[in-house]
Amino acid sequence: MPAQKEILYLVFLALAVRTVRLQLIGSEDHGWAFIWDYNGRAEQVYYDSMVARWNYNTNLTLENSLKQDEANFIEAHFDKQAAQIASNFDWQNFNNTTLKRLFRKITLLGTAVNHIDQAREAREYNNLLAEMRLIYSTGKVCEYHNPSSCLSLNPDLSDCLANNHNYDRLRFCWEGWRDAVGRKLKDKYPRFVELSNQAVHQGVPNWTDTGAYWRSWYETADFQEQLENLYNQLKPLYNNLHAYVRKKLREQYGQDKISATGPIPAHLLGNMWSQSWSNIYDLVEPYPGKTSIDVTSKMLSDGWTVDRMFRISDDFFKEMGLIEMPQNFWDNSMFVKPADREVVCHASAWDFYNAHDVRIKMCSNVSMQDLVTIHHEMGHIEYYLQYKHQPVPFRRGGNPGFHEAVGDLLALSVSTPTHLQTIGLLDTVEDDNESDINFLMSMALDKISFLPFGYLMDQWRWGVFNGSITPATYNQEWWKLRTRYQGIVPPVPRNNDKDFDPGCKYHVPANHPYMRYFVSYVLQFQFHKALCETSGHTGPLHKCDISAGTEAQKAAAGEKLARMLQMGSSQEWPDAMEVITGQRDMSAQPIVDYFQPLIDWLEQQNQGETLGWDDTWTPPYDCEATDGFTCKDGSRCVRPGDRCDGVNDCADKSDEQNCSIVPTGPTGGAAVSTVTNFASTVVCVLVALLMVNLVP
Ligand SMILES: *[C@@H]1O[C@H](CO)[C@@H](O)[C@H](O)[C@H]1NC(C)=O
Ligand SMILES: *[C@@H]1O[C@H](CO)[C@@H](O)[C@H](O)[C@H]1NC(C)=O
Ligand SMILES: *[C@@H]1O[C@H](CO)[C@@H](O)[C@H](O)[C@H]1NC(C)=O
Ligand SMILES: *[C@@H]1O[C@H](CO)[C@@H](O)[C@H](O)[C@H]1NC(C)=O
Ligand SMILES: *[C@@H]1O[C@H](CO)[C@@H](O)[C@H](O)[C@H]1NC(C)=O
Ligand SMILES: *[C@@H]1O[C@H](CO)[C@@H](O)[C@H](O)[C@H]1NC(C)=O
Ligand SMILES: *[C@@H]1O[C@H](CO)[C@@H](O)[C@H](O)[C@H]1NC(C)=O
Ligand SMILES: *[C@@H]1O[C@H](CO)[C@@H](O)[C@H](O)[C@H]1NC(C)=O
Ligand SMILES: [Zn+2]
Repeated sequence: MPAQKEILYLVFLALAVRTVRLQLIGSEDHGWAFIWDYNGRAEQVYYDSMVARWNYNTNLTLENSLKQDEANFIEAHFDKQAAQIASNFDWQNFNNTTLKRLFRKITLLGTAVNHIDQAREAREYNNLLAEMRLIYSTGKVCEYHNPSSCLSLNPDLSDCLANNHNYDRLRFCWEGWRDAVGRKLKDKYPRFVELSNQAVHQGVPNWTDTGAYWRSWYETADFQEQLENLYNQLKPLYNNLHAYVRKKLREQYGQDKISATGPIPAHLLGNMWSQSWSNIYDLVEPYPGKTSIDVTSKMLSDGWTVDRMFRISDDFFKEMGLIEMPQNFWDNSMFVKPADREVVCHASAWDFYNAHDVRIKMCSNVSMQDLVTIHHEMGHIEYYLQYKHQPVPFRRGGNPGFHEAVGDLLALSVSTPTHLQTIGLLDTVEDDNESDINFLMSMALDKISFLPFGYLMDQWRWGVFNGSITPATYNQEWWKLRTRYQGIVPPVPRNNDKDFDPGCKYHVPANHPYMRYFVSYVLQFQFHKALCETSGHTGPLHKCDISAGTEAQKAAAGEKLARMLQMGSSQEWPDAMEVITGQRDMSAQPIVDYFQPLIDWLEQQNQGETLGWDDTWTPPYDCEATDGFTCKDGSRCVRPGDRCDGVNDCADKSDEQNCSIVPTGPTGGAAVSTVTNFASTVVCVLVALLMVNLVP
């Protein structure tokens, strides 16, 4: 068979070249022949490049990096060649809509990597991306008074933000990360944006910039308006949660530090980016003493293992009649951080495009949070397995948000107290209103708190890509959005000439689109509500476990979900949505329904509070007491990152004096320069974005 394929391929190549100036190939039969030939080749090429990427990401060596570059190059070349051949068909006039869609996807994918021909710029683009990722992943914060003691993001700084209630220590961790990483990225990002836009626009002139390219994946003309509508429907929920949490934080940290009508200082919410507030549950628990839904300590005391968490997740998919994880998933995945080598720890799910090799890469620990993350990642794998029969261009989610929603959807059932009891993680389920409110609060700290962040990340980037936000205003505009949508402020003033706070979130230097997570948080509740109805659930939505019905009901829900997953991206996403929900629009109503009891409760608690915030309020801070330096002439306070950085921030230059005795800023420079060199041959990874799915 391979020999035949080879001949078929060459025939078309020849035919294509010969007819290019005369006329386009109009036969749909020839079109299908091309597609099946393409498909077999794409599977092989993508498999090879995924293996090379996997080998590098799970074993960061120079040799593996070079192999990855080579595989990426071959893949990009293949995509481009396929697009060129496909464009010799008169596919725009094909009658068969499936065939037409396949051709469109192949031509678009190929044009997205067109710029690989411009070797110099391609190299520059890839170098920048590699450098930015490296700066992020090697960023360290050293203690100001003990520079040899340095903290990395994972686990040190994350733990610091999560487990501390010391205002100044939190500020140190928060500010240190931004000094260590944002400032190093600031000069690199503008050029990266320029190159990225150039590449995209050269590929398809319709895409005026990278943001337009990213939005095109949603195939929705009024996508931005739809998002804005969804956001506006969700805002009252967020504002109620915000006002309640602010009140509790005032009790904890004092009225002088937090205004009753201002935004919340960003470092107090338990997370480096204030994107999930689950870690401050202890400060805001509505009814202390009632059942706690965080079953981590129970998992530890019962001797749970990482393997058991993956098995439990797999069991849930099986129970719903979905496809179980194949043997090679268990053999090939990386579940824990290996002791003998460097790896990229950010959790991700991998499809190797050969219809059976699928893997998860994750540095898991035994905890409730990781159990939920495992469901998230396994949701991606389930999608891969369900659509593996589709031709390669259709092995995608209905839209990128669909892919993110699947695992979270199942986790919504798994997290219910009744389900946790079923799997032995809760001894008793207290069925009363107070326990319900506690449960909903814990869910809200994860889901509701995320919404404005999920929405604003790409508002900012779309603005950057379309030029309405310029390098000179990167940081101001970032904080405008952070304050407007999230109602948070930096705990200490930002230096907009030097700071680049958006770069301190992984997806910016790694250039992964973000709107998919916002979309997913909306979709997962829509899917949850619809499948709850199918599975015979009655009563409040937050109590629904889609696996709790009869065998027949469970099977019906599983079958609906599977039917949608199997479609991949073969049709536009409203068709896929209709399979589960019976309707074709995104809607915020199901989240609102899910949280309604909590909203009612919050509205009562918030009587006398001001919903929303005054954008102009900023937290007070004491210069020296927060590691700052007051200029000798007393004119201003200089933050630690500005002291001895070679730039005069004080009019009298006193911030640059006596620097030999002042501890220098965070380290990491040496590591950066060595690895930058070996990244110099990295080839384009624009396509890679479509293939690995990350956690937000
Ligand atoms: C890591 O990659 C190197 C090649 O750079 C290889 O020699 C080594 O065996 C790999 N380690 C593991 C554990 O796979
Ligand atoms: C599409 O259908 C029209 C009308 O039936 C027909 O004339 C045309 O030849 C078809 N095109 C192709 C590419 O088959
Ligand atoms: C397109 O062609 C395929 C293969 O011949 C066929 O299965 C499918 O039904 C056709 N679709 C449409 C919309 O005509
Ligand atoms: C580009 O835009 C034009 C006009 O809106 C449209 O007809 C065409 O299909 C678009 N091309 C692509 C590749 O999206
Ligand atoms: C998490 O697991 C890793 C191994 O994957 C281990 O090195 C680390 O100590 C664990 N951390 C905690 C907090 O348990
Ligand atoms: C719980 O809430 C429901 C609905 O709000 C109400 O009807 C019921 O009386 C409440 N029960 C208790 C014990 O407060
Ligand atoms: C650029 O993108 C931002 C964010 O989506 C939008 O608000 C703005 O109107 C866009 N500007 C232009 C000129 O397209
Ligand atoms: C630098 O050190 C000298 C001598 O110790 C001292 O007089 C001066 O005030 C110092 N300057 C600053 C800015 O700390
Ligand atoms: Zn994901």
